[in-house]
Amino acid sequence: MSLPARFDLYAPIHKALRLFMTDTLQALGRLDLDDPQDFEAGLARLDALLDAAGSHLQHENDFIHPVIEARSSGTSTRIAAEHRDHLEAIAALRAQAAALRLQPEAAAAHRLYRQLAAFVAENFEHMDIEETRHNQALWAACRDDELQAIEGRILASIGPQEMSQWLRWLIPALMPGERAQLIAGLPPAAQAPVLASARSLLDDVAWAKLCRAMGQVGPVATPDLAGA
Ligand SMILES: [Fe+2]
Repeated sequence: MSLPARFDLYAPIHKALRLFMTDTLQALGRLDLDDPQDFEAGLARLDALLDAAGSHLQHENDFIHPVIEARSSGTSTRIAAEHRDHLEAIAALRAQAAALRLQPEAAAAHRLYRQLAAFVAENFEHMDIEETRHNQALWAACRDDELQAIEGRILASIGPQEMSQWLRWLIPALMPGERAQLIAGLPPAAQAPVLASARSLLDDVAWAKLCRAMGQVGPVATPDLAGA
């Protein structure tokens, strides 16, 4: 008999982050140094990813690690040290991107691509430890409603601009049912614009599945997407 799934603070946001990271890495790999628009768009996406990665680890430090440490001291030490390394890696990536902006050369673009690939690889291992060992500690320390309250505090600390950036990556990263749950859980005024952006991010099949799943999670403020 399988146990009921516990509330997972990490899973959805890490799916979004993995998609954001791999998508940005691919964009850097095919960067066209002779096309100013493509070049600037690739570097802007890298800037946005580095902002998101820095902000994400800060949320974990501020809202999740204290809960783990209160119950099992020392459990988050390794991950907290890795967060400090990530901040250094983010600063190094920003410096290398700034140098590339000043001097767009293929060798420098490839160095930046490799440096981001190494950062992504390290983050994939890191997120797996959070989703296993940290979740184990959180599930031992907290009931699901307490974990949901932590998520509520994290969400309340995020401004509208950062929130719409996360939703841009969360929506395509999640399964159809998870997308529907996410959108149904938003404040009513936010649902229509988020659905409109979901329509532009998803293909026709994924959009049809989302609409079906939305029907199962209850009424939402559906936007007028005729012809979208
Ligand atoms: Fe982390």
